[in-house]
Amino acid sequence: MKTLRVEIPDKNYDIVIENGLFKKLGSEIRKIYKGSKIAVVTDSNLYDLYGTELNDILSEENYIPDFIVVKPGESSKTIETLEHVYSKLALFNITRSDLIIAFGGGVVGDLAGFAAATYLRGISCIQIPTSLLAQIDSSIGGKTAINLKEGKNLAGSFCQPLKVLIDPEILLSLPEKYIKDGLGEVIKYACIKDNNLFNFLMSINSKDVLFNNIEQVIYDCCNIKKRLVENDEKDTGERMLLNFGHTIGHAIEKHMNYQVSHGEAVSAGMLHITKNSENLGYTEAGTYEKIKNMLNHFHIDDHSNLINQDIKKYVYLDKKNLSGEINLILLKKIGYAFIHKASLADAEKFIN
Ligand code: GLY
Repeated sequence: MKTLRVEIPDKNYDIVIENGLFKKLGSEIRKIYKGSKIAVVTDSNLYDLYGTELNDILSEENYIPDFIVVKPGESSKTIETLEHVYSKLALFNITRSDLIIAFGGGVVGDLAGFAAATYLRGISCIQIPTSLLAQIDSSIGGKTAINLKEGKNLAGSFCQPLKVLIDPEILLSLPEKYIKDGLGEVIKYACIKDNNLFNFLMSINSKDVLFNNIEQVIYDCCNIKKRLVENDEKDTGERMLLNFGHTIGHAIEKHMNYQVSHGEAVSAGMLHITKNSENLGYTEAGTYEKIKNMLNHFHIDDHSNLINQDIKKYVYLDKKNLSGEINLILLKKIGYAFIHKASLADAEKFIN
């Protein structure tokens, strides 16, 4: 078992990472939640795989769980689905002293987290992320959101979870695309903060080697994220480094109607911006090639050829860019990212 403590004044919480943790969820939750009612938000794929077992695990600990099951995929991060979740919470008579669990990937985590942040002005939420992407990124740090038709994550709230419980073994039961999706973000962490992790990832030569080391890889990523969130909870400074590749990545996702995965879209964004920043002299020569080789190494498709004028238009709608200035995240070299504040005109050189 590996534990990290996120230290944010008045909102400290643990991230627990352990293979097989799923079976111990009841006792792990009991350490922090003494009540009885729990609303579990999940999607129908996960419910089919784990619903009965999770119900039994929670009931054995004398909890009274109720499941709110949404459709899998980004199409559930909407106001309509959020309203459905609110209605179910009302139907279950959930009160402020009860608990919501987000059991799922990034979509479930963001949706359930936002419902928890806003229903009755706030209910405690435990994140139990089941995709690699959610385990290393979206379940930590308290960002919750839904999408609007104008763009991704445009309505949301900062609301730190009570605890994050990560069982890497769950990844083995999910389709491979959920691993690849997360690997895009693992590579991002290595690019922005950890050259050793970058070299280690490059040395992984099979799925077995990856899974033999997945606990440590997840720990390394969570540790980077924890430090960035502690220094800048509200995302006005250092935390923005996590957005490397995301300005263009979000635009690709939106333009492609979320048919390209987040990890692949971010990968294309990392490649595109690094190619330009290298040409403009901001990034050490050869960095673009290193990222490209890494993506090839994990067979992550390069969608940077999709980047056209329509996609660039979405970049300017991104909530991060609404002030007329864009905080571009660039690499000096692998393992070292920095924020480059650009006017819209300056940004064009990096986006084009
Ligand atoms: N996923 C980026 C952040 O949490 O800031």
